[in-house]
Amino acid sequence: MSCWTEVCEFDEIDDEDVMRFDHAGKTYAVYRLNNQAYASDGLCTHEKVHLADGLVMGNVIECPKHNGRFNLTTGKALGAPVCVNLKTYPAKVEDGVIFLDLA
Ligand code: FES
Repeated sequence: MSCWTEVCEFDEIDDEDVMRFDHAGKTYAVYRLNNQAYASDGLCTHEKVHLADGLVMGNVIECPKHNGRFNLTTGKALGAPVCVNLKTYPAKVEDGVIFLDLA
């Protein structure tokens, strides 16, 4: 069952950028890329660092701490020091608002 949760206005995030979203005791990273929204767990799988403080380059999010990289659309870890994939979540934009399926 889906559980769509409202995040923010789509326009609050620049294209190729990321924003932190905290909800129900968990933290997420919400991305905007090519006019689509994507979302993943907010913490790097290497150490618990907020990915929203990192850098988006194309479809890659680079962790601010040791420069580990993930594909932000799939969560795939792209090499050392990160070897555990990021969990991703379905995201959609409706009437200019981003929703995540956090079920
Ligand atoms: S904490 Fe993210 S790469 Fe080390």
